[in-house]
Amino acid sequence: MYYPDELVEEVRMKNDIVEVISGYVKLQKKGSSHFGLCPFHNEKSPSFSVSQGRQMYYCFGCGAGGNVFTFIMEYENFSFPEAVKHLAQRAGVTLPEAEYNEEARRKESRRAKLLEVNKEAAKYFFYQLRGKNGQAGYQYLKKRKLSEETIHRFGLGFSNMAGDDLTRYLKSKGYEDKLVQEAGLASYDEKYGLHDKFWNRVMFPIQDINGKVIGFGGRVMGDGKPKYLNSPETMIFDKSRNLYGLNFARTAKAGHIILCEGYMDVIAMHQAGFSQAVASLGTSFTAGQANLLGRYTKEVILAYDSDGAGVGAALRAIGILKEAGLTGKVLNLEPYKDPDEFMKNLGQEAFMERIRQAENSFFFELRMLQRDFDLRDPESKTKFHREIARKLCSFTEEVERENYIEAVAEKYHIGFENLRKLVFTYAAQTGMASSAVRPKSGVRKKSGPEENVKKTQRLLLTWLVEEPAIYGKIKKYISPEDFTGDLYKKIAVKFFEDLEAGAFNPAAIISLFTEEEEQREAAGVFNTKIRQPGTRAEQEKALHDILVAVKRNSLAYASSQPGTDILALNRVIEGKKALEELSKTHISLD
Ligand code: GTP
Ligand code: MN
Repeated sequence: MYYPDELVEEVRMKNDIVEVISGYVKLQKKGSSHFGLCPFHNEKSPSFSVSQGRQMYYCFGCGAGGNVFTFIMEYENFSFPEAVKHLAQRAGVTLPEAEYNEEARRKESRRAKLLEVNKEAAKYFFYQLRGKNGQAGYQYLKKRKLSEETIHRFGLGFSNMAGDDLTRYLKSKGYEDKLVQEAGLASYDEKYGLHDKFWNRVMFPIQDINGKVIGFGGRVMGDGKPKYLNSPETMIFDKSRNLYGLNFARTAKAGHIILCEGYMDVIAMHQAGFSQAVASLGTSFTAGQANLLGRYTKEVILAYDSDGAGVGAALRAIGILKEAGLTGKVLNLEPYKDPDEFMKNLGQEAFMERIRQAENSFFFELRMLQRDFDLRDPESKTKFHREIARKLCSFTEEVERENYIEAVAEKYHIGFENLRKLVFTYAAQTGMASSAVRPKSGVRKKSGPEENVKKTQRLLLTWLVEEPAIYGKIKKYISPEDFTGDLYKKIAVKFFEDLEAGAFNPAAIISLFTEEEEQREAAGVFNTKIRQPGTRAEQEKALHDILVAVKRNSLAYASSQPGTDILALNRVIEGKKALEELSKTHISLD
C-alpha cells in the first residue's frame, strides 16, 4: 500500500516520538534530549537519545537512528506501510482503504470472515479447556509441564468428545455452514452430516505474525494416530509461509531465531525464556519460510530432533537457508530427542550453553557426510576428501572459500595445499568457482574511493544540518545534482528545498525512505557531530575543503558518464567554472 507523502507526514506529526518511544524504553530528560538504554543493542549505561525538537532518535553506541517510523519498523520488525498503519491507528488518523476491484474486495471480506470464525473457534476451545469437559486436556498439558501462564500465552484449548460441538456453537453464533467448512473446522459427509474436524484433542491455535489465528493443530492425548491433526490450507492458512511462534519470536531480539520441529518444542522453549523459537507447521521447512525469517534475522539455529529423520530434515533446511542468504547453525541436543525433552531434563542454562556451542552448518554437513565413509580405509578416505572438495566449491566468494578450505584442512588433517588443489580441480571441471559474482555477500566495503566520496557528501549535509545559515553562502556553488549517491541525492533535493523555504525538517526527510537500512543511514546524516574543535580559520578551511572535494567528485563523475549529451556537457563546463571560483573564494563562517 502506498500512502501519499502528506498523509505520512500527518501521521508522523501526530505521534510525538518521545511519547511513542516511552512506551518501549524508559527515558530520562537530560538537557534538550531524553536518554535511555538502547533497545537495539546490549548496554549498561544509556547512549540512546531521543530529541523532541528534531523528532528523531539516535544511539551513540550502535548507530541506530531515525524518526518515529524507523523506530517502529526496527522495534516491531514492521515494513514501512505497516509502521504507518500502526502509528495512524495510535493517533486516530484514518488511512484510505486500498482501492480494491470487485474481485479483490470480495476476497478481502472472505478473508476477514475466515479470520473471524477462527478466532471464535479458538475462544471456544480455550473455554472448553477450562470447563469440565476439558479436564483431560488440562491434565495432559499440566503433565507436559506447561504453566498456566504458558497455556494462556499460546491460547491452548481443547476440542470435546462430541463430534459436532464446535459446529453447533458456531451455527448458534450465526456463522454459515459453508464458512465453517471453508475454514477447515468441519467437514461434511453423507452419514454424519456436518461434523467437527477436531475432537478429543488438545488444541494449538496457529497465529500469523500479527497474532491472528489462521489455523489449528490438535494433538491426541495418548498414543492415537494421527498424533497431530492440522487444519487444511485455506485462503488464510498457507503452511509454507507462516511459522508457529513467529508472532512472539519476531520481537525477541536474540540476534538469531531458533527453528525447531514441533509446536511443543516452541512452547517449551518460550516457557524457558527462549522466545526466539519457531517451528514449521507440520510440513517440511520451505523457501517461503526462509524468506520470512530473513525479515527478522540473518542467523537461524536449527534445533531439530536428533534422530535420523531430524538430521535429514536439518540438512535440507540448511540448503534452503543458504539459498535465502541466511547463516545456519545446528544445535546439538544429545542425549535428548528434542528441545522440549532437553529443557525438561537439563534446563535453560544448559540450553543456553548449547546455543553458544551451535555448530556451523557446513561442519555439520561434513560430520554427517563422514558417517558414510570408513576413514581407516585409504580408498574410502580419499572418496570422503573428494566429497569435501566438491562441497567446498559451493562457496563462490574467494575469501570465504579460502577460509573454509583452511578450516576444513585443519579439522580433518588434510594438507592445506592438497585440499586446495583438489577444490580447484573440481571447480575447473564443473566451472563452478569461475562464477565470481556472489548474489548476496553481505560484506560491505567500508573504504576505497567510493566510500570517500560518500563521506565528503555526508559531511557537507551534516554541516548544513548544524549550520543551516551557511546554505546561503554555498548554494551558488553546490546543488543537489552534486550528490552522486542515490540516497544522498534524495536527501539533498528535499533538504535544499527546505532550506530554500527556510523551514527544514529532518524527521520528514527520513520518511522519504521506506527501507529501514536507508532510514538509518539518512538518520546518521542528521546526527553526526562533525564540528572539530579548532579555530574559526581552521573550520573555515575544513568547510572549504569539503566543498571543493564534493564539487570535484561530482565533476569527475559527470565527465565519466558515457554518451554525454549537450545538457550534461554544459553542466560539466558550468561545474568547472564553479569549482575554479570556489577554489579561490573564502567562505566565512560568521
Ligand atoms: P510431542 O510429541 O507432543 O512432543 O510433539 P512434538 O511437537 O515434539 O512433535 P513431533 O516432533 O512428533 O512432530 C513435529 C511436528 O510435526 C509437530 O509439531 C506437527 O506439526 C507435525 N506432526 C507430528 N505428527 C504429525 C501427524 O501425525 N500428522 C501431521 N500432519 N503432522 C504431524
Ligand atoms: Mn516432542
